Amino acid sequence: MVQQKTILRALAGETLPTPPIWMMRQAGRYLPEYRATRAQAGDFLSLCYNSELAAEVTLQPIRRYGFDASILFADILLLPQALGADLWFVTGEGPRLSTIQSDADFQALKPADAVHDKLSPIYETVKILRQELPSETTLIGFAGAPWTVATYMIAGRGTPDQGPAHALKDSNPELFQSVIDLLVEGTIQYLSEQIKAGAEVIKLFDSWAGSLKGADFDRYALEPTKRIISALKAMYPDTPIIAFPRGAGERYIGFAEATGADCVAFDDSVTAEWAAEHMQGQGCVQGNLASSHMVTGGDALVSETQRIVNALRKGPHIFNLGHGITPDADPENVQLMIDTVRSA
Ligand code: CP3
Repeated sequence: MVQQKTILRALAGETLPTPPIWMMRQAGRYLPEYRATRAQAGDFLSLCYNSELAAEVTLQPIRRYGFDASILFADILLLPQALGADLWFVTGEGPRLSTIQSDADFQALKPADAVHDKLSPIYETVKILRQELPSETTLIGFAGAPWTVATYMIAGRGTPDQGPAHALKDSNPELFQSVIDLLVEGTIQYLSEQIKAGAEVIKLFDSWAGSLKGADFDRYALEPTKRIISALKAMYPDTPIIAFPRGAGERYIGFAEATGADCVAFDDSVTAEWAAEHMQGQGCVQGNLASSHMVTGGDALVSETQRIVNALRKGPHIFNLGHGITPDADPENVQLMIDTVRSA
């Protein structure tokens, strides 16, 4: 069958005249309709586990803007919760989890196959979306990469420098590796279920990859990503995978080849021109626009958007931000970005 969906064409390596577009955190607090549905669900986690309402918030940015892809509404921290970690969100502050400090804390977790029952509402959301999305819109499933998820599980919260995870990795490498191995296995099973339910593309978010240096980057960012991708490719060779080792810098070079990813998403600490020279030769690239432009808008948003489109014009490219859109963004700036990409 000839592939018509633009996102899938770009992921297959095609250079398109206009890059397809979606946006990290496109379903989120900057949209009044999202805030209304979250209030209806009660809170953020109840929204994630309510398949009908999670599908509704996934569809909201598609209705409003006609993005080329939608991303399943869920969170990377649902996986540790399914593995037995306590999880709650503190309004205005972020996630809190039980911590991992000892072998006993690790032993108390559940085996990887706990993801099947506990996360069944998420697979149901995927099924609803495949029925309700427009035929041209690609559905992206996702998970956190093991290092990033481990940083939250070990510290029990988000940390500016991932200090507690680095400390455990250095003081008790065996225990740390057990956490990574459990997450690799759980993530493979979780993402397999998403694909079975209808996810057409998978994205792995390694938001804190940038704090791993040298051999640690290979061991804990590259290697787990590679293990997950090879297991998924063995079962689902036709499902493209996007890897996002945020903050990788020089280590973006060769990441696609080393892990088997079809596309590497990159943040705004490198330029689109640099990505064209060092990354795009290996496959599709995605990202780069600083999310602050969605708050400030204006000529700077337009010229920066045009610059990224032009820099990446000669190869496969999916237009996206360098990180998630923030709650203070102006929904009109999103439309301005889309209009700029489509007329560039
Ligand atoms: O539109 C989408 O992108 C789909 C859903 C999605 C969410 N989180 C919803 C969400 C996705 C793909 C994520 C990924 C995620 N979650 C990451 C990786 C990407 C990144 O941003 O680096 C991480 C690190 C998390 C963990 C997480 N979830 C944190 C640290 C927070 C609090 C910070 C914040 O932005 O509020 C969340 C909460 C969260 N996840 C919200 C949303 C829409 C906001 C919660 C709310 O509505 O109250």
